Amino acid sequence: MASSPRAQQRSSLWLPFTWQQGEHLSLIGETGTGKSTLMAALLSQWSYLIVLQTKADKLTAADYSAHLIKRAQQLDDTHYSRFLLRPAYREQRREVAIALDRPWKHNEKGWTIAVDEEFYVEDNLRLGGLIERNFTQGRSHFLTNVAGMQRPSGITRFVMSQSTHVVSFGMEGRDAKVLSEATTASIQDVVDQLGRHEFVWFYRPTRSMWIGRLDLKTGRLIETARFAPERVGRGAPLPLQR
Ligand SMILES: Nc1ncnc2c1ncn2[C@@H]1O[C@H](COP(=O)(O)OP(=O)(O)OP(=O)(O)O)[C@@H](O)[C@H]1O
Ligand SMILES: [Mg+2]
Repeated sequence: MASSPRAQQRSSLWLPFTWQQGEHLSLIGETGTGKSTLMAALLSQWSYLIVLQTKADKLTAADYSAHLIKRAQQLDDTHYSRFLLRPAYREQRREVAIALDRPWKHNEKGWTIAVDEEFYVEDNLRLGGLIERNFTQGRSHFLTNVAGMQRPSGITRFVMSQSTHVVSFGMEGRDAKVLSEATTASIQDVVDQLGRHEFVWFYRPTRSMWIGRLDLKTGRLIETARFAPERVGRGAPLPLQR
């Protein structure tokens, strides 16, 4: 396989902010909010993709437009460039580790690696070290990392702090506080007011926020409110239109 950066733009899904190769993305939402559905939509733009699926999920390889594999070694198959790796339960740790290490071992630049359940990979599989390396050193390797999680707590702090993009569904209390510490204070009020399946997208370079949702009928992202953080008074109610 070539070691030069791979072509990146695949689909033309409109995104509120430019998402470039090597920029990481964290996606947070409690179960049933639509995390995996949104992740699949966002990942549609990447040509060289590895989705790591470690739990039974109704999202299939077809939902990710990916080729289903059980072993990381099958990533060698150059007939495909988008893969959903769903290892057998007992082999999860080894196979996920091989996949996370692949860009370094083979010196392949330009992959996007998406972990559907970040907490599981860190806590159950004990692969936080590999995740941390990919998030802190991936950028120079044109490696784009995506991490989905139900809550922002209990995840290695590098995941969110190294994410250029932090996308979150609604949450409150302690979780909202942890999220705000990793992004911006005003996001705390935002996530408290989000509707079902609605999310906020924080873009770190400009500290801007965009609020919207994925329309399942059209497959597009729809804006429901947008603002720059300086316009939001601390603690003031936000003008969210639904
Ligand atoms: N934007 C949306 N609009 C309406 N329904 C949605 C939307 N996104 C997801 N759903 C529906 O919500 C349900 C849960 O979606 P999904 O599996 O993506 O959630 P999840 O956050 O990944 O949950 P889990 O943490 O359990 O994996 C599905 O039935 C899906 O069809
Ligand atoms: Mg899911």
